[in-house]
Amino acid sequence: MTVVESPAVRLTVDGRAITAAPGQLLIAACEQAGVYIPHFCYHPRMRSVGMCRMCLVEVDTGRGPALQPSCMLPVSEGMVVETASDAAARAQDGVLEFLLLNHPLDCPVCDKGGECPLQDQTMAYGPGESRFTEEKRHFAKPIPISDLILLDRERCILCDRCTRFADEVAGEPLIGFQDRGSHTQVNTFPEAPFDSYFSGNTVQICPVGALTARPYRFKARPWDISETISTYPNAMGDRVSVHASRNQILRLQGVDSEAVNHGWLSDRDRFSFEAVHSPNRLREPMLRDESSGEMQAVSWSSALSLAAAAIREAVDAHGASSVAILGGAGLCAEDQYAWVKLVKGIVGTDNVDARMGDGLWADLLCALPRASVADACHPGGAVLLISGDLREEFGTLYLRLRHALLNDDVALVELTPLETSLSSLASVSLRARPGDTALLTEAMLSPQRGESVAGVPTKALAAVASMLKRRPLTVLLGRTSLAESPAAVERAAILLARKFPQARFLPLLRRGGTVGALDVGMAPGLLPGRVTLASASDWYRSAWGAAPEARGLGTEEVLQAAAAGKIKTLVLLGADPVVDFPYSRLASEGLSAVSTLISVDLFNTASVRRADIVLPAAGFGEREGTHVNVEGRATAVTAQVTPPGVARRDWQIAAELARLLGGDLGISSPRDAWEELARLSPLHSGASWEALRTDLDGVLLQAPPPADGEPLRPEALRLADLEPPEAAVVPFDGYSFRLVADRTVYDGGTVVGNCPSLAAKARPGRLRLNVADYERLGVGGDGAVVVTSSAGSLVATAKPDDRVPPAVAALAQNTAGGDPRLLLSPGDAVCEVRIEAASLT
Ligand code: SF4
Ligand code: SF4
Ligand code: FES
Repeated sequence: MTVVESPAVRLTVDGRAITAAPGQLLIAACEQAGVYIPHFCYHPRMRSVGMCRMCLVEVDTGRGPALQPSCMLPVSEGMVVETASDAAARAQDGVLEFLLLNHPLDCPVCDKGGECPLQDQTMAYGPGESRFTEEKRHFAKPIPISDLILLDRERCILCDRCTRFADEVAGEPLIGFQDRGSHTQVNTFPEAPFDSYFSGNTVQICPVGALTARPYRFKARPWDISETISTYPNAMGDRVSVHASRNQILRLQGVDSEAVNHGWLSDRDRFSFEAVHSPNRLREPMLRDESSGEMQAVSWSSALSLAAAAIREAVDAHGASSVAILGGAGLCAEDQYAWVKLVKGIVGTDNVDARMGDGLWADLLCALPRASVADACHPGGAVLLISGDLREEFGTLYLRLRHALLNDDVALVELTPLETSLSSLASVSLRARPGDTALLTEAMLSPQRGESVAGVPTKALAAVASMLKRRPLTVLLGRTSLAESPAAVERAAILLARKFPQARFLPLLRRGGTVGALDVGMAPGLLPGRVTLASASDWYRSAWGAAPEARGLGTEEVLQAAAAGKIKTLVLLGADPVVDFPYSRLASEGLSAVSTLISVDLFNTASVRRADIVLPAAGFGEREGTHVNVEGRATAVTAQVTPPGVARRDWQIAAELARLLGGDLGISSPRDAWEELARLSPLHSGASWEALRTDLDGVLLQAPPPADGEPLRPEALRLADLEPPEAAVVPFDGYSFRLVADRTVYDGGTVVGNCPSLAAKARPGRLRLNVADYERLGVGGDGAVVVTSSAGSLVATAKPDDRVPPAVAALAQNTAGGDPRLLLSPGDAVCEVRIEAASLT
C-alpha cells in the first residue's frame, strides 16, 4: 500500500514561520512550536468545544485580522497569527474578568491553590482588579457527587471538561450541565451519583478547584510536594506522576504517554496509593514460634539465616526439586530477575511460577507474536476479544480501545461468555458458552454446514472470518473465566495464529507484571528472554555457573506436589494462593503440607498467616526499577518514600539469600540487575537503564537481529514448536448451568481492602442469571439460591442480568457474595452447576 503524506502547512505565529500537520488545531500547532496560548476548556485528548474563549488569538487568513478561538481553528496555509497582540490581550483580560465575576475568593482554602490554571492565568493575563461589586452567585459547597468526588459549583467555570470526559471518554454521561444563564451549573442527576470507574480523571483535568477527590482534600499544597514520573504496576503499566510529601504518597496523577494511558487512570489504580501506608503493612521479619504457634518479630539476619537453612536442608535431603517459588508478578523486572537467578542459577530448581493458576500457558505467551496497545487501536484494524470484561480488569486499555472503536474505524469481534462493557460498540458479539471458545474458533476458521455451532449461527461465524481476513488482526487473549480450562483459549490462539500469520496477540494477564515475569523466565521451562531451558540452559549456565537440568513444575503442580509431601520448602513472593489460586482446597492442602513456608510480602494475607518465616518487602513508591506491561513495554519505576519498618526490596532479599546459600548474585542495585539482564537476554538488550528513565513511553522490548560476530544466542520460542492443546468439548445437558467465575474491579482483594476509599466501594458478588432462567427457577424475594457442583456447594444471592446468556451463571471471584472456587475441580474443562431456589428464613 502506498501512503501519500500530505505536505505540512506553513503559517506564521508571532512573526515566526512554523509548520504544522494538515488539520492540526492552531492551539496544538502553536504549543508544538513552543508558543503557549492560555486555555481552560481545550484538552488534547477530547473534542474541542470552544466553551471558555480563553484561547482567543488574532488570526489573519487573508481577509484581515480577527479574534478566533485557537482550539476550534485548524491551521491553514499562509495563516498569520498573533497570540499576544493588544486585541488578543484585551480579549483574554475580558474573558478572565467575566470568569471571575461569580468566582469565590477561596484561593487560601482551595485544593487547587498553587497549581490552578485560573489563578495562574489571572496573574499572567488577567485584569488585575474587578469592577464587579454586586453579590456573587452562591451554591451549597461542596456537595458529594460520589463516594470519592466532591463538587464545589461556585468554583466551576463551565469548561465542559468533566462532562466531556464522562460522556466521550468513559461512556458514562453521569455528570452534565443543568439550568440556564448565570444559574448554569454542573451536577449529577438526582438518584444517579457519579459512580464511574474513572471519575478521578475529571478531578485531574478540572482546570479549577471545582472537583476534588476525597483522598487528597486538604492533605498538601503543591509547594509541599515532590513529584516523580513512575509506572503504576498494573497490567497496562500506566504512567503516573507520584506526588509525595513528608515520606507519604499523597496522590497519583495520570501522565500523558502516547503509547500507554493517554493521561487516564482508573479510580482503583489512582487511589490505591492508600494501601502503601496501610497500618496492615508488614514492617519487620517474623518467625513462627514452634511451641506457641504465634508469630514473633525477629531480626533480618535470623529470618534470612533460617530461610536459607530451610532451602539448603531441603536441597541436601531431597534435591533441588523439593524447593519451589510461587508468585513474583507484582515485582519489578530487576527483582524478578534476581529471584530467577537465585532460584534457577543457585538453588538449581525450575519449580518457579509467577502465575497463580489463573493465567495461560507460559510457552504460548512467549511464542505468540506480541501486539502493542497501538496495534490494537490502529485505525482500520480488527480486534478479536477472547477475555473477560476489559472495563473490570484493564481500565485504561478499555478507555483506549473504546476511543479507537468510536473514532478510528476499529472493528471489534467479541468471543466472550458474557456481554461486556464494549458489546454495544462491537461489530459482532459472539457468546461463547464456557468451554466452547476453541470449538467456535475452529468453526470460524473453516466453513461449517448446518444452522449453528454451539448455539452461534454459522452465518455469523462466516461473516466474522471474512472480516478478520480483510483487516489487520489483533487478538486480546485472556482467561474468560476461572471456571473454564485455559486449554480452550490456548487452542483457539494457536489455531488463529496459524490461520492468520500476520495476527498479533496481546496477552491479558491481570496481575501487573506477569508478562514481564514470563519474559525473565519466571515460569517452569523458561529462562530470561522468552527462551526455553532446552535452548538456553548452556547460555545461562556459562553466565550464572549453573542452570536447572530439567523442566520444573507450574503452580498447580507445585501445590499438588506439596500436598503429596514432595515440596519441602515453598517460597511465596507476594503471592496469596489461599485467596487467588482457583482451587482453594488444593492451595490450603499444599501450604499446610510443606515443612517450611516462607512468605515475602507487603501485607498479612491469608497465605502469609500460614507462613513459618515472613519477610516484609517494599512496594509501589518504595522501590526503583522497571515495569514490563502486557505488550512487553518496559518503563521506569521510581522510589519516592521509604518502606515501612525494616521492609526491604525484593532483589536485596534474593541477593542476601544467595550469599547465605554460598552463592553470589553479583547484584548490588536494581541497575546492576537490569544491566546484567540486558547483557544476557537479547529481548531486553535494546532498553538501556538511561533510555528507560528519559523516554516517557519507555521501550517496547524486542530482540534485535544478531550482529555480525556476536556469539550464538539462544533461540526464542517459536510458535511452530508448540502443538495446540486438546480442549475437551463438553456437550450441554440442557439441565445444568455453566459457571463463569469472573472479576469485578472492587473485589475483596488485598489492595482494595487496604485502601479505605476503595474498600467502601466493594460490594458482595451476586449470582447473575439470565432473566428467563431467574424466573424459571422461582427465586424468592431474598434471591437466595443454592449452587451445587461436583466439587461443592454454596449459598448465594441471585439477581437477574440480561448480559448473561441462558443456561449460564456468573459469579465474581473474591467478593463477600460467595466463593466460586468452592465449586471448581482441577482438571475439569467446565464447571457445571445445579441451582435451586432456597430460603434463608
Ligand atoms: Fe482560587 Fe483557583 Fe481555587 Fe478559584 S479554583 S478559588 S482561582 S485556587
Ligand atoms: Fe470544568 Fe471543573 Fe466545571 Fe467540570 S467542574 S465544567 S471540569 S470547571
Ligand atoms: Fe479555546 Fe476554551 S480553550 S475556547
